[in-house]
Amino acid sequence: MKIVSLFSGAGGLDLGLVQAGHEIIWANDIYADAVATYRKNIGNHVYMRDISEIPSSEIPSCDVVVGGFPCQGFSVANWGRTIKDERNKLYKEMVRVIDDKKPRFFIAENVKGLISLGKGEILKRIISDFSRVGYKTTWHVLNSADYGVPQKRMRFVMLGVRNDIATLPSIFPPEPTHHDPTKKGNCAKLKPWLSVGRALAHIPEPELAPDIPNHQYSKYKLRFNGHMGHRYIDPDKPAPTVTGRGDEKGGVVVLHHPKNHRRMSARELATVQSFPDNFVFEGTKTSAYRQIANAVPPALGYAIGVMLSKNANQILHFDREAI
Ligand SMILES: C[S@@+](CC[C@H](N)C(=O)[O-])C[C@H]1O[C@@H](n2cnc3c(N)ncnc32)[C@H](O)[C@@H]1O
Repeated sequence: MKIVSLFSGAGGLDLGLVQAGHEIIWANDIYADAVATYRKNIGNHVYMRDISEIPSSEIPSCDVVVGGFPCQGFSVANWGRTIKDERNKLYKEMVRVIDDKKPRFFIAENVKGLISLGKGEILKRIISDFSRVGYKTTWHVLNSADYGVPQKRMRFVMLGVRNDIATLPSIFPPEPTHHDPTKKGNCAKLKPWLSVGRALAHIPEPELAPDIPNHQYSKYKLRFNGHMGHRYIDPDKPAPTVTGRGDEKGGVVVLHHPKNHRRMSARELATVQSFPDNFVFEGTKTSAYRQIANAVPPALGYAIGVMLSKNANQILHFDREAI
């Protein structure tokens, strides 16, 4: 399907959608380094502009609009989170584009903190805004580890379906491919979660491999006090969430390497987010860390892309039956 991607960042979600066979025809972000990274790795169809200054007439028609509207205002990691946070309003730009372009589907993704913000009031408003412009919605909080990412990253993912499209059998959420091996259950067809130790095993120490792109690391001291970014990393489990701090003051949470002897390099953090080794980030080490922390893991994007294809096939089936 042809996809328009808002708030595309470095392109984590978009890479997964492309890997699943979709075509991104237009993308947009205001972060210069992220746009440069996107151009280098995904394509020239990305524009560096503020979405609130782009008229919908400049955006091409498409089958799907995807968007991870900025999550800082929604994050549980943000101590000052409040309903009044101005940054929350950027999702309204997404509503505007969807209203004007009327794609068959949309995907909105965000931090899971969105569901409890304002005791659920914000999510209710978001659902009613999308309903007002003609879309039924359904949402889930997905664990990236269930889709082959070596990280327990929880993401809120909403599927919107245009009202004139027949109600679909439930093909959402995407089928997990992996499972928690410590839990019993009927998981015979699923692979065990990918551990962070295994995912990073092929990457040599930065000092031994200075030519690997983005393989520089923060020398910030290690602490083991249980707080975010200061936890012992169990090499045999998926890593905890890689995250920007949620406000503009703190840095990105750079996890300890699974040997717990230093922090991860940007390359390693990218691997924990399931970016392939040949995906190169533009900008400084700090910028690369930030682009990576902001991203949807491509492997989760891939699962969403496969789910969209199944929905599309289903629609074609319904269309044929209608004829
Ligand atoms: C959570 S990140 C999206 C990450 C992306 N989905 C990915 O998978 O890599 C949100 C993005 O919104 C961008 N952004 C913030 N305000 C914006 C605006 N007014 N117009 C366009 N992009 C904006 C940020 O630069 C950031 O890259």
